Formats: sequence, structure tokens, C-alpha cells
Amino acid sequence: MNRVIIIGTGVAGLSVARTLTPYVDVLMFSKGAVDDGATPLAQGGIAVPIGPTDSVHSHVHDTLRAGHFTNNVWTVAAVIGDAKNRLNDLLSIGFHPDRNADGSINLALEGGHSLPRVVHARDHSGRHLHDVLLADVRKHDSVDIMPYSSVESLIQNDSAVSGAIARSTLTHEVRYYTADAVVIASGGIGAQFPLTTNPESATGDGIQLALEVGARVSNVDKVQWHPTALVPDGSSDVHDRPPHTHVMMPLITEALRGAGAKLVDVNGNDVVPLSRHPQGCLAPRDVVTAACWESMKNTNKSCVYLDATGLNKSELLTKFPGVVHTCMVNGIDPTVQRIPVAPAVHYLCGGITTNLNGATNVEGLYAVGECADTGLHGSNRLASNSLLEGLVMGHRCGLFLNSLHRNHKKEYMVI
Ligand code: SIN
Repeated sequence: MNRVIIIGTGVAGLSVARTLTPYVDVLMFSKGAVDDGATPLAQGGIAVPIGPTDSVHSHVHDTLRAGHFTNNVWTVAAVIGDAKNRLNDLLSIGFHPDRNADGSINLALEGGHSLPRVVHARDHSGRHLHDVLLADVRKHDSVDIMPYSSVESLIQNDSAVSGAIARSTLTHEVRYYTADAVVIASGGIGAQFPLTTNPESATGDGIQLALEVGARVSNVDKVQWHPTALVPDGSSDVHDRPPHTHVMMPLITEALRGAGAKLVDVNGNDVVPLSRHPQGCLAPRDVVTAACWESMKNTNKSCVYLDATGLNKSELLTKFPGVVHTCMVNGIDPTVQRIPVAPAVHYLCGGITTNLNGATNVEGLYAVGECADTGLHGSNRLASNSLLEGLVMGHRCGLFLNSLHRNHKKEYMVI
């Protein structure tokens, strides 16, 4: 294992890169700027079972319950069992989560979790995480990051993947790169949908590359909606745009509901009453999303509302500066006005089928992060398990590739 190509520069790809031994040359491609992907947009944070009354068992149970018990239990146990190690690793390279007055890490509550568990950096956790990982990777002389380079296809030698063909999106120059392994970490497919929280780069092209070389793909029908994306003008027409228009709807983090904001319809009625789900508007996302759609239909409106006016104003401004800014630039003052929101496509639970090393059924091809299907999420992802998956699976894939470097052996997944 002398050279590894990584397609994508988000949390999963960066985690692979920083885990690889310095004896392996690494080429990372991003089709846009290095921070054009979904990771820097993540608001919520990283779910880690470190609260005083929390446990791996409880986090596992919440993950399985949110996923309707269709998850791969081995993956769930492996990913959540490693969460605390990955957090400690992040702390050692300069990740600064919000802390309580006593110095302990502040944990936010999000939908589907039975207790506060989300490690966060105010409401720009993804941006901070990405900055920290990127700064660490940039210290590795063995890693070259090539932004504005779109991988057009993978090179195959017999059936094994042995490199990639990349085109500069600036000069259109095409180049061939050989490698012993290619890791796809290219994110999801949200930009294929008209209403989404995803950036324009989330086109699913990495999954297409994998399909073209015969990789197995699973559960791509498990597309998760986030229940609370801002309806930009607060009015109505966002759902009437022509199909296939990419309308990015800014996310309003679930943590706002965790902090006490109410989800109500135009008449002030709870969208998810406790009679519908014992966790109310903090039920898993699929439940809340379905309730939003029903409420919008019943009230003949194209949005429901997040009401954060009951929250302490200084807490709202300090803990949720990103949400407040997003609302303000859209003409809404969340300290005194309700925030119009509606469901938007948010996350792909399935993807390129991999084992717990990120290996696919094609020799030399690996996949990590949102583009991969490890079985962690089942049919519905638990909030803030995605950055966690990127960290853990990126690390595991990097370790596995290091083991190939030492042993000069090749392995591919038998499905
Ligand atoms: C959120 O902050 O509501 C989103 C977190 C996630 O997608 O897990």
C-alpha cells in the first residue's frame, strides 16, 4: 500500500487521511473548495455517550429504536463503542466543545435521544470540526489536497480499482492517478432533490463512480428528511417551485427544540402532541417530519413554526448564534417571532455497501461517511450520529489500510 486516493474532504475523508501512516502517499480530491461539502454545515454536533447517567448501551438502544431496529447491530455497537475514543482524540488536536461552568462538556438534547448526549460547539459544530481536522491533516507531509478536482471515473485493472481519472474544474485538464486503494468519501445525494438542507455538491457522484466499477449499493431509498428547515420567505411558494430546482433550505438545528423551542402549527397547536409520541417534538426525525407534513396539509399552510420566543434571550443568542443570524438575514427575529419551517431532504441512510473497515465488494475500493451504507442508521438516522460515523469509520478504514501497508496483502469484502 503505497498510495491512497481519497475522494472528498469532509469529516470521513479527513479522518481516513489523518489516520494513514506517513509512509503512505495520500491524494485527496475535492470537486470544489475543500469546505464545499456538508460537514461544515452541520449544526448539531457529535453524539457521544459521556453524560453522568449515560451509557453505550443507552446510545445503542436509541440508535436502534430510531432506525426501527433495521440497523446492523454489529456496526452500531462498534461505532458507538468507539465514540469516546474519537472524542478524546479530537480534544487532543484542538477541538473545543462548549463546556459547563464546572468544566464538563455541555451536552445538547436532540430528537430520538433519551437524554442530552450531543457534544457541540455552539451551533456551528461542523465548521469547527472541519477546521480542526483540516488543520491536522495539513500537518501531514504525505497528504496532498487537490481542490477543484472532480473525479470523473475510477481506473480498474481486471476487476480491482487501481486509480482515478480527475479533471480540474478550473482548467479542465484531465489527469490519471494510480493508487493501491481508492476511498470514496464524497457525501450524500441531497442536491438531487428540489428542497434540501444539502449543499450543491451533494450530487451522489461518488456513489455513481462505485456503481460503475461493480460495487454493491444498498438502502438508497432510505432518504431522511429533517423536519425543521427554514422556509426562507416565511410565506408559501417554496414548495411550488419547479421540480429539480435545487433550493437550499437552511437548517434550524434540532438542538433548538432540545433547548425548549416548541414546534407548533399556524394556530399555536403542538405539531407532535405527547399523545402522538412520548417524546413529543423531540421524537425521531421520521415521526416529526410526518407530523409536520400532516399539520401543513390540515392547516393548508406550507410551513409549521418553531417558537423559540419562550427561551431565555441571552441563552438563545449565545448558544444559537448561527440560527439567530440565519433567521435575521431572512427577516425573522427569533427572540420575538416564530420561525417558519418545513421538512427538507437531509441525509442518505444507505449508500455503497461496506464492511466495518470501509471495504466494498470491489478489490481496492473503500467508502466511508454518508456515501457508505454500514448499516449504522437502519431506515432512519438518529440525530448527530453522522459526524460520529464519519470519525469512527474514517479512523477504522485508515487503520485497515495501514495494516495492508505492513502486510502487503489485499482484502476485499465477501458479501
Ligand atoms: C441538527 O442539528 O438538527 C442536525 C443534526 C444531524 O443531522 O444529525
